[in-house]
Amino acid sequence: MTDLTELQADLAARVAAAADLAALDAVRVEALGKTGSISELLKTLGRMTPDERREQGPKINGLRDAVAAAIAARKDALETAQLDAKLAAERVDLSLPPPPERRGRVHPTMQVLDEMIAVFADLGFSLAEGPDIEDDFHNFTALNFPPKHPAREMHDTFWLPENEAGERKLLRTHTSPVQIRVMQQGQNRTLPAWIAQGQAPPIRVIVPGRTYRSDSDATHTPMFHQMEGLVIDRAIHMGHLKWTLDQFISRYFETPVVETRFRPHHFPFTEPSAEMDVKCDRSGKDVKIGQGDDWMEIVGCGMVHPNIIRTCGLDPDEWQGFAFGFGIDRLATLKYGMPDLRDMFASDVRWLEHYGFSPFQAPNSSTGLS
Ligand code: PHE
Repeated sequence: MTDLTELQADLAARVAAAADLAALDAVRVEALGKTGSISELLKTLGRMTPDERREQGPKINGLRDAVAAAIAARKDALETAQLDAKLAAERVDLSLPPPPERRGRVHPTMQVLDEMIAVFADLGFSLAEGPDIEDDFHNFTALNFPPKHPAREMHDTFWLPENEAGERKLLRTHTSPVQIRVMQQGQNRTLPAWIAQGQAPPIRVIVPGRTYRSDSDATHTPMFHQMEGLVIDRAIHMGHLKWTLDQFISRYFETPVVETRFRPHHFPFTEPSAEMDVKCDRSGKDVKIGQGDDWMEIVGCGMVHPNIIRTCGLDPDEWQGFAFGFGIDRLATLKYGMPDLRDMFASDVRWLEHYGFSPFQAPNSSTGLS
């Protein structure tokens, strides 16, 4: 016969020594589980004589109750201690400085886009947009690229697979197709006038957007951004074009006088066509606009070809105009000094934190562009 007093003392000591809830539960199973020491004692009651049972019953049951109560009390204590430790560890220390705030930055392309819009809005231009997925007509044919003409090969076009109608769409290689859309929609306006998509002449629009060419090196990425400009009015000439671009360059680069020059060039949709260069200094690490003796190409432009004006339903003897196309990302790299155009679209948050702009300072011409 087990000595009940000894067993109770032993169990009480082990309950008290249980360091955590798992250890305590192990003691409970050993004593009160199906084959636990106290459970085994309770089973012996059935085999006892009535006299023995009368004597042993209360002792064994008392032992069970005492041990169960001790376990419950210890469990309570352990749980309280656990909670206290958790609360102490998680206490908020209000004297600590707040963690640094992570703030989103405006991508340089979008910053420069906003700067360009601010300048051109001042000059009286409104915004128009067109689709990234274009058809051959708007991207090439209507822009005076004859079918099968080698000039089409100037653009490394991304073609889409042929559709059911046997037509192959493409990712637009420039924003010039929107010239066509603006002029044609202006003639045949199906949208309400407050959607500034189409304009009847006089037309002054800028067209920012994504453009695509199969090309990739330090100054070319397969996707890039262009800003088209189109002016159609009466008696427009190259002088208006040069004045507009000169205004833009000096306002955008925030330099009072920037020397520029026109260099003859060829685009099928302008005649005459030119590339405009700006004076710059390339001797240092960054290109400095408006200083030095070097020239750098900055924008393609020209007088809108009469064929384009005619295709869009206007009389070229009455309406003339000019157009230009800037690379937005390229303008960003020139103004803010990024060495590699490809980094612009690598989606590296550290790059963006370094070169990005505060979202709370929208460029405008009264408080400054940058
Ligand atoms: N679309 C031309 C290009 O992508 C640029 C341009 C636009 C040239 C408008 C003349 C007039 O290279």
